Amino acid sequence: MIIASISYKGGVGKTTIAQNLAVCFAHSGYKVCIIDSDTSQNSMSWLGRRNEDLPKIPVYGITEPKAITQNINALYKDYEIIIIDSPPALSKIATKIILAAHLVIIPITPTGGSDIWTTEQLLEHYENLREQKGEDILAAFVINRFRPNVKMHQAYLEILEEYTEEYGISVLDSKLHDRSAFGESNLQGIGVYEYSNKSAKEEVIKLTNEILALAE
Ligand SMILES: Nc1ncnc2c1ncn2[C@@H]1O[C@H](COP(=O)(O)OP(=O)(O)OP(=O)(O)O)[C@@H](O)[C@H]1O
Ligand SMILES: [Mg+2]
Repeated sequence: MIIASISYKGGVGKTTIAQNLAVCFAHSGYKVCIIDSDTSQNSMSWLGRRNEDLPKIPVYGITEPKAITQNINALYKDYEIIIIDSPPALSKIATKIILAAHLVIIPITPTGGSDIWTTEQLLEHYENLREQKGEDILAAFVINRFRPNVKMHQAYLEILEEYTEEYGISVLDSKLHDRSAFGESNLQGIGVYEYSNKSAKEEVIKLTNEILALAE
């Protein structure tokens, strides 16, 4: 399965979700790798901090749009699951990533402001690509940094429901809450599955299982 973690918005959790899914899949025995297609190379540097004793998650830095499709196809011969950590931009490489993916995961951080507009740009582009491809491209929203007691975060759930109706993209039941464990584990080159915060670990396991069920 090829999973793209993508948004045109910066800082919404694309990298966090890519790494944490990869860690969960690796612990479940899948042969998994990450493609880091962002020139800031956050997943590449995460791998540099990762202890060698932990389950192996190779990270390939591929930022050249011309090379990405061919590289994904070549790597897919060796890995059961490829997770693509995407750059925060409406770019050529983003288009190729969406076209190559079996599942497009769109993290949504319900912080308001320009987020909604940027998300709509991605959704319009996604719809065009679906037409271009001539087949459906499975996509789902994941709510990240959720804080249930913040009114606006609840309001986002309603906005996303509208997107579901308009674009046919579902919102996954499993949310990632706003937890320092995500940043702390990233600093150590691990995922929250390998960290001491039980609640964070439980929510990424739930997310991973939901994604596996969706892909079946
Ligand atoms: N659920 C969460 N709870 C707390 N902090 C989080 C959570 N998800 C992400 N973060 C933090 O938010 C910041 C941005 O996350 P991340 O790097 O995953 O986003 P991104 O979409 O990949 O950003 P960029 O567009 O810069 O690549 C990081 O410092 C990360 O540790
Ligand atoms: Mg990133």
